[in-house]
Amino acid sequence: MASLTTEINRRRTFAIISHPDAGKTTLTEKLLLFGGAIHVAGAVKSNKIKKTATSDWMEIEKQRGISVATSVMGFNYGDYKINILDTPGHQDFAEDTYRTLTAVDSVIIVVDVAKGVEQQTRKLMEVCRMRNTPVIIFVNKLDREGKDPFDILDELESELKIKVRPLSWPINIGARFKGVYNIYEHGLDLFTPDKQKVTERVEIKDVNDPAVDEAVGKADADKLREDLELIEGVYPDFNVLDYLDAKVAPVFFGSALNTFGVKELLDCFVRIAPCPRPTQAEERAVEPGEDTFSGFVFKIHANMDPNHRSCIAFVKVCSGVFRRNANYKHIRLGKMLKFSSPTAFMAQKKDIVDEAYPGDIVGLPDNGTFKIGDTLTEGEDLHFKGLPSFSPEMFKYIENTDPMKTKQLNKGIEQLMDEGVAQLFINQFNGRKIIGTVGQLQFEVIQYRLLHEYGAQCRWEPIHLYKACWIESDDEEALEAFKKRKHQFMALDREGRDVFLADSGYVLQMAQTDFPKIRFHFTSEF
Ligand code: G4P
Repeated sequence: MASLTTEINRRRTFAIISHPDAGKTTLTEKLLLFGGAIHVAGAVKSNKIKKTATSDWMEIEKQRGISVATSVMGFNYGDYKINILDTPGHQDFAEDTYRTLTAVDSVIIVVDVAKGVEQQTRKLMEVCRMRNTPVIIFVNKLDREGKDPFDILDELESELKIKVRPLSWPINIGARFKGVYNIYEHGLDLFTPDKQKVTERVEIKDVNDPAVDEAVGKADADKLREDLELIEGVYPDFNVLDYLDAKVAPVFFGSALNTFGVKELLDCFVRIAPCPRPTQAEERAVEPGEDTFSGFVFKIHANMDPNHRSCIAFVKVCSGVFRRNANYKHIRLGKMLKFSSPTAFMAQKKDIVDEAYPGDIVGLPDNGTFKIGDTLTEGEDLHFKGLPSFSPEMFKYIENTDPMKTKQLNKGIEQLMDEGVAQLFINQFNGRKIIGTVGQLQFEVIQYRLLHEYGAQCRWEPIHLYKACWIESDDEEALEAFKKRKHQFMALDREGRDVFLADSGYVLQMAQTDFPKIRFHFTSEF
């Protein structure tokens, strides 16, 4: 058996994030092609939700159901074991993406060269920043007209608030796109539009090699040299440690659709991206190389098929080796559990596995045993941190419409919240339940599932809220004074933490000015 250290060192667990349509699905597919996990382009049934289906959430759930197997895509590439964690493209499921980001060691961001940094990317980058996740940026669609590459770099720096360092450089763009100069490996990659073929490389010593002029013509070769000189002048040399510290993001240019620049990205990625890193528990930092197994649930995927209404809990292995049929402690329940059919995700297939290593994801069949954030260990009481809730964007009161089914409704709400479908707050003023989500679709999902899985009927009532803020203060009196003054807007979350429900940005700003001793947080972990 390979040693634990070898297995850890060869693992790369990451997510690809982007604004919808930038090319995440296409890039994922091309990476799978290189890993031999698929053999033709177009084979990925990804988590991507078809644009036409935005109003039809049942259809969306069906697609999500189908895509359980592609939620995690594991494959071998050379000596490396790669785990890509897929994230839903639809922004109404952004909370899912935030949580997935807690289970990865690094991230590749895809940006459309014409559109630049878009809203969803900005938001996801904030999560990466909070967690100090190393990021590599892939600027996509160079075969189309787009922005000037220098402008893109400036935009990336200012919008994503991270220093950037180009590791490849495009020669023209759109119809005149000729390829990229690979700064990282000193090669010239010539562009031939083709969906299946890989990049053609001209081996050169450096950019002054006459082979460059031959390949792209004198004018473009001169422009390239000029650009590179500027780059060397403006951007400090690339330092891997700065990337690993999340201080600098290397940037690559290419075209995922044409499989151009993708292999270069992947080769650099496996070399520089981090292997599984320590995970912080409340009690201590847990090293991946420790002998005993530990892991946490970062995602629960409900199966919407009425004939198989089971869930899968996705567990990220943090340390040691996970073994089938071994006894593990479910810390929250204080119970020992055994799993006879854990699944792993390889080459788009879900198979029973006997063991899994740090960085790997195992799927455990679940019918209500797990909650997002639950920890499994060999016995030690550990509670992994870093699965914060983010302030929802939409809020509604949930009302029972069938008094005979109150119990069912409450149970249904509890379980759906455990799964992380939405967040529940109890208003302390009127005792009413408020559900907070990041998108309209979740309200429909909740209503449907309460009825079909729990036999409970509910109705939504509007409540106008801007944000939910978790509050704290070192000054107990100030906290009490604030809660008294804002008693109509105070709520408790499911863990019993104080939450202030601000009904407008102005009110929130006033509260921050009037109560300087109170700290307002937009995530539940601070
Ligand atoms: P997403 O997962 O980030 O939402 O994006 P996806 O990969 O689905 O790509 C969105 C659209 O952009 C797709 O076209 C895809 O073919 C196209 N695309 C991706 N990479 C490139 C590229 O390098 N160059 C060009 N020109 N286009 C690219 P679509 O018409 O929306 O979908 P489809 O019918 O082609 O699947």
